[in-house]
Amino acid sequence: PQVCWLAPEQTAGKQKPYMYTQGQAVLNRSFFPCFDTPSVKFTYSATVKVPEGFTAVMSATSWEKQKDNTFIFKMSQPIPSYLIALVVGDIVSADVGPRSRVWAEPCLIEAAKKEYDGVIEEFLVVGEKLFGPYVWGRYDILFMPPSFPFGGMENPCLTFVTPCLLAGDRSLVDVIIHEISHSWFGNLVTNASWGEFWLNEGFTMYAQRRISTEVYGLPYTCLEAATGRALLRQHMDATGEDHPLNKLRVVIEPGRGFLRGFCLFLGINPDDTYNETPYEKGYCFVSYLAHLVGDQSKFDAFLQAYVNRFKFQSITADDTLAFFLEYFPELKKKGVDSIPGFEFDRWLNTPGWPPYLPDLSPGQQLMKPAEELAELWAADSLNMETIEAVDITGWRTYQLVYFLDQVLQKSPLPEGNVERLSKMYPKISKAQNAELRLRWCHIILKNNLEAEYSKVKDFLHSQGKQKYTLPLYRAMWGGSEATRALAMETFSATAPQLHVNVQNYVKKILGLQ
Ligand code: BES
Ligand code: ZN
Repeated sequence: PQVCWLAPEQTAGKQKPYMYTQGQAVLNRSFFPCFDTPSVKFTYSATVKVPEGFTAVMSATSWEKQKDNTFIFKMSQPIPSYLIALVVGDIVSADVGPRSRVWAEPCLIEAAKKEYDGVIEEFLVVGEKLFGPYVWGRYDILFMPPSFPFGGMENPCLTFVTPCLLAGDRSLVDVIIHEISHSWFGNLVTNASWGEFWLNEGFTMYAQRRISTEVYGLPYTCLEAATGRALLRQHMDATGEDHPLNKLRVVIEPGRGFLRGFCLFLGINPDDTYNETPYEKGYCFVSYLAHLVGDQSKFDAFLQAYVNRFKFQSITADDTLAFFLEYFPELKKKGVDSIPGFEFDRWLNTPGWPPYLPDLSPGQQLMKPAEELAELWAADSLNMETIEAVDITGWRTYQLVYFLDQVLQKSPLPEGNVERLSKMYPKISKAQNAELRLRWCHIILKNNLEAEYSKVKDFLHSQGKQKYTLPLYRAMWGGSEATRALAMETFSATAPQLHVNVQNYVKKILGLQ
């Protein structure tokens, strides 16, 4: 069941069926027999025969098409089971760089090419400069059908991404930089257990922001990191800081065997670790290690040595931290692993807000205007003259996102303010950009803007990304009777399109399971 079979209506072109697999975290065991743990790595080859008019692609270093619509794939580097992925559909490709092409359904290929033509190579080059050789040969991107549950999935040689990234202005390219960063953190150096997922994602967030800093500068990167911090705040507020999932090292109970009967009440499915903690708290921990070193170029050199030391292996956080202390003997001598309040052990094993937050003040020049504007919109009586004097036409998407996060935090706003905001900024309230739509939907719900409820419904019909879908259902379920009804109605219409994991999580939220 974890191999996703889509009917023609569930694709962009609506002409032909489509199938795809999603391995991470523990779904590939229902795709092929394997040791389905990230602690085991192996090479693979596959022969895939598809019907006429279809193309097969896989996360493989080489592929060739033979007669009879048969494709032969080989992955020559050892990878863990979760990185094997297959798509069969009506898909075509276009070159966007010397070692990169985009794949998409024919009706999306032009947009896909336009979005990323000529930009991918620079990220790869910067990544190689920072973290060492890119060992996977090609870096291609496949635009998935709208129900794909993730922003991106770092299948080696062939990243899968949501079609929401086709924003028309490259504004969501941070997702691509993130998936490219997994080429070193995750795909080369891999967490040995899903209980230490932060080793994949926290290091990748750090690497993503290092590449972003090199390409787009520190102010912009700090702004993006500030929106990440806001997501962590929302997540911890929603789950409670002390929730066991808000530790970097999560205890995962055995998934089968007699123990499951006893441990089910404590049991954590590896897929449940997909929340903001491993990403953003993990990012804070890696930033803290960099802060202990105190010199960016020395820390960059450490990251490169770390990749080189553990490439093609699966490791635990203890391996990472022991290597860190070995690499910086003077820090080891100083006992940096046990500074009161910042003990490595506390970072790993205590739930809650990170004890250290990296300084994001270089982003102030972009954040401050957004904060001030949000302040103005939260006033009891609106000062329209001052508001109109602020020109947001030149703001980048993440600046608008940051502004909306601030508005959301202050919501519900005084009666009538959100309606006026909506009219004043069609760029926001009528946005097609998924990150803006997500925030706008939250604002609609928190301010009980019934006239715009249809926008929430439309957004949830248009895509099935887990990080967009679950928070909106949580918000609807936590709201009024009207928003609860909206949730039920939307879910019954969209459920068949959602990935089974996402379906099950929504059912839990709505008390259907
Ligand atoms: N590897 C993850 C996606 C994932 C995590 C799939 C856990 C299944 C289980 C991917 O690299 C990722 O983190 N995607 C993010 C991108 C974002 C942080 C830029 C996403 O989908 O939101
Ligand atoms: Zn990731």
